[in-house]
Amino acid sequence: MIFDTHIHFNDERVYQNFDKHFNEALESGVKRFLCIGYDVESSKLAIKLAEKYPEIYAAVGIIPTEHKQYELKSEENLGTIEEIRSLAKSSKKVIAIGEIGLDYYWEKAPEIKEKQKIMFKEQIELANELNLPISIHCRDAIQDCFNILKEHKVKKTGIMHCYSGSKEMAKEYEKLGYKIAFGGVLTFKNSKDTKETLLNIKKESIVFETDAPYLAPTPFRGKMNEPKYICETVKFAAEMLNISYQEMQDIALKNSLEILNINYEN
Ligand code: NI
Repeated sequence: MIFDTHIHFNDERVYQNFDKHFNEALESGVKRFLCIGYDVESSKLAIKLAEKYPEIYAAVGIIPTEHKQYELKSEENLGTIEEIRSLAKSSKKVIAIGEIGLDYYWEKAPEIKEKQKIMFKEQIELANELNLPISIHCRDAIQDCFNILKEHKVKKTGIMHCYSGSKEMAKEYEKLGYKIAFGGVLTFKNSKDTKETLLNIKKESIVFETDAPYLAPTPFRGKMNEPKYICETVKFAAEMLNISYQEMQDIALKNSLEILNINYEN
């Protein structure tokens, strides 16, 4: 059984064929999903799906690349955090705050970077207030992200989504208690850092994700990523670590349940 710790069933491209994608994933052995919000609307949809399907959990939050929308006044920021707070409290199936973090790839202006940091910290506070872990979106900002997490400790820590830093930095995140999520990028020919990270961190730190509809693994690279494709990534990792596909699934499942504080009953 595979736990997809970062999926966007709430993205239009996946949502329009939800039944197909969900059922095909279940048939492929993907049995638990953390559906990740990236703004207020997508967070609402994540909750709606989580309320309907026992296999799906929800994360609510505002992604850094969406901050521009909310950049104007601090009251608007607060308003948005307020909405996320009430969404997070509205359902027991909300088990994380995310995806939140920093993205300097899309946003290079210093004032936007500062706003991203403020939003990140505010949502970290929210996670601590609600005693939830976080799902982190961090792109081209690995050091700043780390500094914030070191200074603003998240009680329940969380998952580094689509980790793309060095293996050394991954170990630092590991020391803080974060899990490292591997997705399609692991299977790409040029993903040297990601592969080295997998080989150098503890097995207890490994979780998997699709990030569907983004970043489809080889041999589907360039196509829309589908939830069932996570199997390719898990198989790839198992081969790299020289363990069986089943063992890889078991290790990652245990790690996923642990970090997301889920008691698995059946
Ligand atoms: Ni995402």
